Amino acid sequence: MHLFNLFVQILSVNHALSIVFADEPKLVPLQKIVELLENSTYVLTCNLFSGAKPIFFEWNKNGQKFSGTTNVRMENTNHYSLLTMTSLTAADSATYECIAKNAYGTASTSTQFVIKGLTEKKIISMKLC
Ligand SMILES: *[C@@H]1O[C@H](CO)[C@@H](O)[C@H](O)[C@H]1NC(C)=O
Repeated sequence: MHLFNLFVQILSVNHALSIVFADEPKLVPLQKIVELLENSTYVLTCNLFSGAKPIFFEWNKNGQKFSGTTNVRMENTNHYSLLTMTSLTAADSATYECIAKNAYGTASTSTQFVIKGLTEKKIISMKLC
C-alpha cells in the first residue's frame, strides 16, 4: 500500500512537470487580410508568443510549402519569421500560413494577401478619354 501511494505520487509529480515544461509553440495571430498596392514592399512578421526553444518556422503559400521567390525573402530566428516582400504583383496574392514547430508541438496562423493593381484607374482614365 505504501509503495502504491509512492507510485501514485511519482506519477502525479511527473504529470505536473509535464504541464509546466511541455511548452508547445504559441503564435501571435496574423492580421486576417492584408491589402497592398502592386509594386509595394511589405514585411510580414510571424511572432512567437511563447514556446520552448528551438523553434522551427515554415510557411505555406495556398497550402503548398513555400520557401521564398525572387521577390520574397524569408528570414527565421527562434523568436520570429519574416517574409520580406518587394515589388509585389498579383502572383503574390495568396493565403500565407506561418507554422512554428518545436519538440512539443506545432502552431500556425495565416493571412490573406490581396495585391491590387491599376485596373480601376485604367477603367476611369479610359472613360475620361
Ligand atoms: C508597377 O510597376 C509596373 C512596371 O514598372 C507599372 O507598369 C505599374 O503601373 C506599376 N503599378 C503601380 C500600382 O504603381
